[in-house]
Amino acid sequence: MENSSSLLSCYVLLNLFFFMHLIEKNFLASARELATEHVIDVKSLLPSNSCSMPDKSISPYQLKVVHRHGQCSSLLSHDEKVSHVELLRQDQHHVAYIHNRTANSTARLNPIRSSLFARVPVEIGIPLNIFNYIVTIGLGTPTQYFSMLMDTGGILTWIQCVPCDNCYSQKDPIYDPTKSSAFTNIPCNSNYCTDPNQFGCSSTNTCLYEINYTDGSYSKGSFIQDTLTFSSDTILNFHYGCGHNNSGSFGQVDGVLGLGRGAVSFLSQTAQFYNKVFSYCLPSGTNKIGYLLLGSSIPDVKYTPMLTNRNLPSLYFLNLIAISVQGTRLNLSPTIFTGPGTLLDSGAVFSYLPPTAYFALRDTFRQYMTKYPMAPPLEFLDTCYDFTNIENMSLPQIDLIFDGEVTVTLDSTGIIFGTSISQMCFAFTKNDDDSMVVVIGNVQQRRNNIVIDEQNFQIGFGGHGCS
Ligand SMILES: *[C@@H]1O[C@H](CO)[C@@H](O)[C@H](O)[C@H]1NC(C)=O
Ligand SMILES: *[C@@H]1O[C@H](CO)[C@@H](O)[C@H](O)[C@H]1NC(C)=O
Ligand SMILES: *[C@@H]1O[C@H](CO)[C@@H](O)[C@H](O)[C@H]1NC(C)=O
Ligand SMILES: *[C@@H]1O[C@H](CO)[C@@H](O)[C@H](O)[C@H]1NC(C)=O
Ligand SMILES: *[C@@H]1O[C@H](CO)[C@@H](O)[C@H](O)[C@H]1NC(C)=O
Repeated sequence: MENSSSLLSCYVLLNLFFFMHLIEKNFLASARELATEHVIDVKSLLPSNSCSMPDKSISPYQLKVVHRHGQCSSLLSHDEKVSHVELLRQDQHHVAYIHNRTANSTARLNPIRSSLFARVPVEIGIPLNIFNYIVTIGLGTPTQYFSMLMDTGGILTWIQCVPCDNCYSQKDPIYDPTKSSAFTNIPCNSNYCTDPNQFGCSSTNTCLYEINYTDGSYSKGSFIQDTLTFSSDTILNFHYGCGHNNSGSFGQVDGVLGLGRGAVSFLSQTAQFYNKVFSYCLPSGTNKIGYLLLGSSIPDVKYTPMLTNRNLPSLYFLNLIAISVQGTRLNLSPTIFTGPGTLLDSGAVFSYLPPTAYFALRDTFRQYMTKYPMAPPLEFLDTCYDFTNIENMSLPQIDLIFDGEVTVTLDSTGIIFGTSISQMCFAFTKNDDDSMVVVIGNVQQRRNNIVIDEQNFQIGFGGHGCS
């Protein structure tokens, strides 16, 4: 069995990370026509060994992102390998937490916006496994740059700081805020320091924060204000945690950028610049580049309402209404997905469907795949194929249809998953029962433009956002 350190390192390795390098000019890959079937080179679905960096770029808000395990990530030691069995188990652990927190609570329209801050429980800031992308941000004056986990559910941003009572080893030198001319402490009576669950007060009347994660990881220290540099934008008086005691599964990142919902989130604090809108595209493989875009919206995006679940108010919920295979909708009860509600979760790898829907989808998929020999299951992925000696294969087109008839066509890497050509598996799984929250994981989000518009409570999807 795994010991705790391998669990921790796997935990980190399992997640997909983003890393910002340059600024990419034309992130919108030229749209290609959708075939009725995906016909693909089998090998293209496997991780590749070289990092082809697209060249230059220009939009100031645009950040390149790469897969944590790819060679485009400077944080990755080349030797690191991910055990797929552990990846799968960790993914289940992550989703189990979501199911626990959302049991018998449905997501609602018109979120509890006015009281979000007060109601946010600390541990939901970043539930286990929601750290999944890396972006580089600048802090201080003069600016120093740091690699941050991009946490789409995170309620606040923090970074390891000196003096370190207890810091894990990180990529960059540990930040010393006293070297920044813009740094100040926040007094305890500040609006930002009022939630007693998350904030405290030091003996010198400065604000303290503490954030616990469900796996036992934590960060605590001073809640401060300082200059934040995002791409070429400078945000003055940004409030974030300066962690003096940090421990857990953070790999070697310098801190966490919280992109969830809540009063001290990055989105709230930068609302006047970016209108609480961000977009991203998750690259399809280990050596591909995606992006995180703040502010302006992406063209050709269709929007579906954003919902809120009161038990996980920092996360982004929406309504999945149907799934189609080759253009034909699965014959399912209209409330199969809307009953439990659906979470768009970059922290989960796979999608977790109500069993009734899963079996319908899986059986339909299998009918399209009868020409390929099956392979043994990979943990809970029960529909696997052996593509040894098969050069080109075809996959049926699978669309997720969200409220408002917003149709998201999955990339082929969002349909089939594996690192071995002899065992490539259908990248969906099932919940324990039909009442549990549906989770759309990051595999199914790949290559689509996804717009999180918290200002207008909508989530947008557009095709072919990155490679
Ligand atoms: C959620 O987890 C808590 C703590 O382990 C447990 O007491 C509770 O029964 C769980 N709830 C559900 C709905 O699984
Ligand atoms: C959730 O609802 C089901 C069915 O209504 C019920 O059996 C179960 O006890 C409820 N669970 C919780 C945690 O309230
Ligand atoms: C860091 O925080 C942990 C958890 O609260 C605590 O047990 C530990 O003593 C702290 N370490 C230091 C050096 O303050
Ligand atoms: C975090 O966990 C520590 C140790 O279990 C606990 O003392 C503290 O109250 C927790 N803090 C929050 C904000 O939940
Ligand atoms: C696979 O596809 C390529 C490119 O379309 C084609 O050249 C090749 O002949 C195909 N191979 C087989 C075995 O069909």
